[in-house]
Amino acid sequence: MSKILVTGGTGYIGSHTVVELQTEGYETVIVDNLSNSSIEFIERIQSITGIRPAFIQADCKDTEAMKRVFTEHEGIEGIIHFAASKFVGESVEKPLMYYRNNIDSLLTMLELMPQFDVKGIVFSSSCTVYGQPDLLPISEESPVKTAESPYGNTKQINEEIIRDAIHAGAPYKSIILRYFNPTGAHPSAEIGELPNGTPQNLVPFLTQTAAGIRKELKVFGNDYNTPDGSCIRDYIDVVDLAKAHVMAVERMLKNAASPQLEYFNLGKGEGVSVLELINTFEQATNLKVPYRITERRAGDIEQIWADAHRANEILGWKPVETLEDTLRSAWKWQLKQLAGTTCLPAD
Ligand code: NAD
Ligand code: WQD
Repeated sequence: MSKILVTGGTGYIGSHTVVELQTEGYETVIVDNLSNSSIEFIERIQSITGIRPAFIQADCKDTEAMKRVFTEHEGIEGIIHFAASKFVGESVEKPLMYYRNNIDSLLTMLELMPQFDVKGIVFSSSCTVYGQPDLLPISEESPVKTAESPYGNTKQINEEIIRDAIHAGAPYKSIILRYFNPTGAHPSAEIGELPNGTPQNLVPFLTQTAAGIRKELKVFGNDYNTPDGSCIRDYIDVVDLAKAHVMAVERMLKNAASPQLEYFNLGKGEGVSVLELINTFEQATNLKVPYRITERRAGDIEQIWADAHRANEILGWKPVETLEDTLRSAWKWQLKQLAGTTCLPAD
């Protein structure tokens, strides 16, 4: 049984990925400093799969602590590196914290991998590296554009660090996964995305509004050059996304002929506007969501969706969840969160 280190494994995408890894027979070791997640997720993973993952509360930047992890959990073959700070707005306010956390964490992993004979690393990147696309859908060959935020820049720099290390002869493989808009929760509603103050992302704000926690959802602009004037994104179900990680690990570790460095877009390949998403949520849940069109949000991309053919063909990955099912799972997760929250203002 292959042993995989999942950094950031109690977080949103990490916890779903641990579930899928365990389901496919992988042994998992989670390292998380719990800066944006809860230890409770270990129990919840166990309640879904019946297997308790090994868990070490540690910071990926802490070289000595990470050496102990590799020593005590001998035989780690691969890493999925989710651990990072991920809030775009916060990164504008605290750029140094973002550069320190996101870059040092990856450097620590890459420096230790050869010492402990770790064969490969899957890295969580983002479609944010493409900026405003010139051509849609966007393929992996599209140029990386100047980052819109320090967060986005950390993803670009991390990609370059991996590329340069491999070009310099590093003895491991890497698969860089560029996620589009991860959405929804595990169908059990045991795990999902934990809100961090007022949500900045569309779907958590929408479900909190539907739950009465927020007065109304603001739709940031309806004067874009799109069919209904609102922005278009590619919303990818988190369980489908998690499954892609298992396929990436499989290819990276088991396929001797696969290239040392590969990039894959992970999206559905479907563009959905903000207004279409609200409409689909209302139909899927039979709820009414109060919303209002407001001014555009600074820095927003008008429209982006993935050309995911490479992941479909090379990884054999096909997202299966419909947007309705994804939004229903987000709503089910929201209902689980309701206890203990109070009514908050719209902003
Ligand atoms: P998350 O915040 O839920 O998970 C990240 C986890 O990493 C958290 O549990 C946090 O406590 C942990 N962590 C952060 N810094 C750490 C450190 N130095 N040492 C140990 N643990 C640390 O975020 P997520 O949505 O699950 O995102 C996972 C990864 O995917 C991140 O790298 C993120 O940038 C990337 N990503 C996310 C999205 C998205 O919309 N959610 C989109 C594209 C890329
Ligand atoms: C989606 C659409 C908004 C909130 C961000 C990061 C990106 C990536 C994913 C990590 C946009 C609109 C939103 C609201 C709205 N993360 N919206 N009202 O902007 O695609 O990407 O998260 O890598 O880096 O930038 O996602 O969910 O914030 O917005 O109208 O209250 O919903 O304008 O069109 P985005 P989002």
